[in-house]
Amino acid sequence: MSRLVVVSNRVALPAKGKQASGGLTTGIFDALRDTGGIWFGWSGEIAGKQAAEPKVTKADGLTYATVDLPRKDYEGYYNGFSNAALWPLFHYRLDLMSFTREDFAAYQRVNTLFADALISMLHPDDLVWVHDYHLIPMAENLRRAGAKQRIGFFLHTPFPSFGVLAALPHYDSLLESLCAYDLVGFQTNEDLTAFHEAVCRGASGAVLPDGRIRAFGRTFRAGVFPIGVDPDAIAEMAVPAVKSRTLRRFEEGIRNRQLIIGVDRLDYSKGLEHRFKAFACFLERYPENRGRVRFLQIATATRSNVPEYRALRQRLGALAGDIAGRFSELDWTPMQYLNRSFSHRSLCGFLRISRIALVTPLRDGMNLVAKEYVAAQDPGDPGVLILSPFAGAAYELDGAIIANPYDPDAVAEALQMAAQMTLDERCERWRAMMMILRRNNITAWRENFLRALGETRSQLS
Ligand code: ADP
Ligand code: F6P
Repeated sequence: MSRLVVVSNRVALPAKGKQASGGLTTGIFDALRDTGGIWFGWSGEIAGKQAAEPKVTKADGLTYATVDLPRKDYEGYYNGFSNAALWPLFHYRLDLMSFTREDFAAYQRVNTLFADALISMLHPDDLVWVHDYHLIPMAENLRRAGAKQRIGFFLHTPFPSFGVLAALPHYDSLLESLCAYDLVGFQTNEDLTAFHEAVCRGASGAVLPDGRIRAFGRTFRAGVFPIGVDPDAIAEMAVPAVKSRTLRRFEEGIRNRQLIIGVDRLDYSKGLEHRFKAFACFLERYPENRGRVRFLQIATATRSNVPEYRALRQRLGALAGDIAGRFSELDWTPMQYLNRSFSHRSLCGFLRISRIALVTPLRDGMNLVAKEYVAAQDPGDPGVLILSPFAGAAYELDGAIIANPYDPDAVAEALQMAAQMTLDERCERWRAMMMILRRNNITAWRENFLRALGETRSQLS
C-alpha cells in the first residue's frame, strides 16, 4: 500500500494540542489517525533569515515533519498573499482583497522552500495530498524538483466564480499551478463548476467528455469530495463532556433557559456581525423569548496580524456590548461572547446542551461546526440547526432550517421557528441529517479522495 504524505500550512502538532481551531486540522488529523503517514507543513515558528531543516517528531503513529518560515517571507506569504488576497477573494470579498507583487513573490518562495524540504523525504510510490490555498503551487514545485509521485490537492475553501477570480492579478499563474496536480478536489459541485469555468475561460482548457480536464498541455481530474466528521466519535466525546465541571458550572448559570450557540474562528467570512444583529432582531420581534434564551458565541481570534481581523474583533466587541446594554435585565443577560478556544471535548459538550445552533457564514467551504453540532445531539431530544445556504454543508444537511444571513428578519424567523419546534419534528430533521453524516463521514472523504488519486496515472507531459 502507498504511504500517505499530507502537506498543509497548518499542522496540529502534538506538543501544541491537536485541536488548533480550523476545519483543516480537525479533518486531516481524523483522516490520518487511521492510515498513519507523514504530515508535513509549517511549524508555526518564524526562523531568523534562513529556514531550518524539517523537524521530525513521531506521535500517535504519525510522523510530523515541519519547517520554520523565514521571517522575511512569513509576512508576505501568510498574512499577505494567503490571508489578505486569496482568503477574501475565495470568500467573495473583493472589497477586502489586498494584493501586492511582493506578497505574491513571498508566497512563491515559501512554496518552493516547502517543496525543496519535502522532496528528499518522499518514497517513489507515496501518495502526496496537498491541502488548501496556501500551497497551490506545491505540485508544480515538487515536479520541478523531480517528483514523479501522484499528487492531489484539496481546497477547503470555496472556489470563486470566474468573474471574481479574474480580479486577482496573476490568477492565470494560479490556475496553471492547479493544473499541475493529478487530482483537484473541491467541497461542493458549485466549486467544481466554477473551476471548470475558470479552466475553460481563463486558461483555454477543456473539460473532456469523461470528466477529465485538459489544460496547459496536461490531462488531470477534478472532483467533489465533501469533507465530513466522525459522528460516532463526536457523540462519544459529547456525552461525558456534559458532565464535566466546566459544563456543569456553565449550565447552572443558564438555569433551564434555551441555549443558542455559535462556534467559529473570528473571521469576517463567518457572518458574525450579521448574526449578532439578527439575534437582536429576534429579541425585538419576539419579546416573549427575553429571559428564556441565552446566546453563547465562542469566537477564537485568528490571523490577528491581518488588519481586517483586528478591526472585526473591535466591531464585534462593541456590538455584543450594545446588545447586552440594550436587552439585559437585572436577572438576565441575553448573550455571552467569548474570544477563547476550548478543547474539542468541551466544545462537543457545549454543542450537545444547545437547543439551537446558529451557523450562518456569508461564505464557507464546508463548515464542520454544522456537522459537529448535529453529531453531538442527544438522539432523544435533539436541537435545531440554523444554516446559511452559503456554507458547503447546506448541500448535504437538508434537515437544517436554511436562513439567508444577509436578512436579519429571516434569521430571526428561523430562530423563532427553532425555539418552538416540536420534539417530533426535531427528531425527524436530526435523523435525516445523521444519515448523511454517517454516509459522508471523514473516512469516506479520505478514502474517496485517495482512491480517485490512486486511480490517476501521473501524466507528465
Ligand atoms: P474553518 O475551517 O473556517 O475554521 P470549520 O467550521 O470548518 O471552519 O472548522 C472549525 C473547526 O475548528 C471545527 O472542528 C471546530 O470544532 C474547531 N473550532 C472552532 N472554534 C473553536 C474554538 N473556540 N476552540 C476549539 N476549536 C474550535
Ligand atoms: O479551513 C480553512 C482554514 O483556512 C484552514 O486552511 C486553516 O488551517 C484554518 O482555516 C484556520 O486558519 P489559520 O490556519 O490561518 O489559523
